Amino acid sequence: MTDTPVPRKRLLIRTWGCQMNVYDSARMAELLAPLGYAPTEAVEEADMVILNTCHIREKATEKVFSDLGRLREAKKARGGDMVIAVAGCVAQAEGAEITARAPWVDIVLGPQSYHRLPEMVARAARAAGAVIETDFPPEDKFDHLPEARAPQGATAFLTVQEGCDKFCAFCVVPYTRGAEYSRPAAAVVAEAERLVALGAREITLLGQNVNAWHGEGPDGRAWTLGRLIRRLAEIEGLARIRYTTSHPRDMDADLIAAHAEVPALMPFLHLPVQSGSDRVLRLMNRGHTAADYLRLVERLRAARPDLALSTDIIAGHPGETAADHAATLALIREVGFAQAFSFKYSARPGTPAAAMAGQVEEATKEARLAEIQALLREQQTAFNRSRIGLVAEVLVTGPGRHPGQMAGRTPWLTPVHFDGPADLVGRLVPVRILAGHPHSLTGALLPPASAAARERPAA
Ligand code: SAH
Ligand code: SF4
Ligand code: F3S
Repeated sequence: MTDTPVPRKRLLIRTWGCQMNVYDSARMAELLAPLGYAPTEAVEEADMVILNTCHIREKATEKVFSDLGRLREAKKARGGDMVIAVAGCVAQAEGAEITARAPWVDIVLGPQSYHRLPEMVARAARAAGAVIETDFPPEDKFDHLPEARAPQGATAFLTVQEGCDKFCAFCVVPYTRGAEYSRPAAAVVAEAERLVALGAREITLLGQNVNAWHGEGPDGRAWTLGRLIRRLAEIEGLARIRYTTSHPRDMDADLIAAHAEVPALMPFLHLPVQSGSDRVLRLMNRGHTAADYLRLVERLRAARPDLALSTDIIAGHPGETAADHAATLALIREVGFAQAFSFKYSARPGTPAAAMAGQVEEATKEARLAEIQALLREQQTAFNRSRIGLVAEVLVTGPGRHPGQMAGRTPWLTPVHFDGPADLVGRLVPVRILAGHPHSLTGALLPPASAAARERPAA
């Protein structure tokens, strides 16, 4: 008996939003591979296009609809022979609006339903209208995904936790991703082992609130993220562990201790603060004060003096006054961030903040954001310059911008470029940092045995 050959088809996936969407896109590609779908970047040759969308700010959502307009033309050019799917958080939040505004869409699926994608593709081929799955299905999608993972390169994402029960007043995530859920420790460890076997040297554990992870351990009791990290650090060949995104309220003593005790846990932490004003933090329902955050930073730095911190800031949340904005700038100055993301507040339909009194004018939001970003840019450049002269252990991730150049990342997650041979990909090499730019570093490769590779900067 011979196998019937699977027809070759092309799949294009566009991804917006957070790293969890990047992970989801990789899993969707893996799910569709057995159906004959191979990846492409060219829309003209795509038999199927998946837009994996983000609903976090209005701009992100609007991009989806403009992309759908262009896809309509591409589908027409192929005589209608193109399956168009909208996945992710816009699909979850606005499924009905998508099918009404873009009837050429064949599939709409929420983040909790993507394990059903192969079956939906088959249904779409027979259906007259769009096939929609935006319920939170009773089964665990992770139990229905293939165990096999495709190679991810030297660095890989691994989702360990999904959803959010925090309900920050401004945020759509609790509505688009549903209630908090933690994958069991054994499933995470098994997936990490498979990724390492495929060449991953660095794994970033993902979750909307990754440090709220409390998955079942092999002993039947809930583990903490700190314990999971210690277990993952035992995997041979796994050199680096990171996790993102953390909530200040879930940073427990054991996780802080892990930063001191687990060498594979990298000295970089993304810890969103959103605002430096206690009034605004209360309006945001963040559940912590500015002082709580500063104390936490102090404890983290005591555990790991070379820890580089990153954060998220929202400018112009409803109710924010000039004094509140000044408090945010003061907090940023006090902490000194190595990196950060900052955004203008964007009112999201259905969230409590959208209905609050004291909405801030667009021009004020813009001016405050510009001030915040100028300060953050200054801090980021200063941080990168402070690396000059150090020898950093660099994980080589791929080719650089110029011929003969390679790219990698430092323990502090800063991209670094240096001249070196292509066969270094996936290796940890010592690089002396020669220059610090706003978003990256340049350096020179040192001989492999360079003992100075373990040098650490002063706090
Ligand atoms: N779970 C993470 C953040 C997820 S969203 C956390 O709790 O920190 C990523 C970032 O987008 C947030 O940290 C916030 O800074 C920003 N964000 C979320 N909703 C927003 C909104 N309505 N307007 C502007 N920025 C927003
Ligand atoms: Fe959104 Fe807050 Fe949950 Fe983060 S913790 S995902 S900002 S509701
Ligand atoms: Fe966006 Fe959904 Fe992530 S709204 S930030 S893609 S959880």
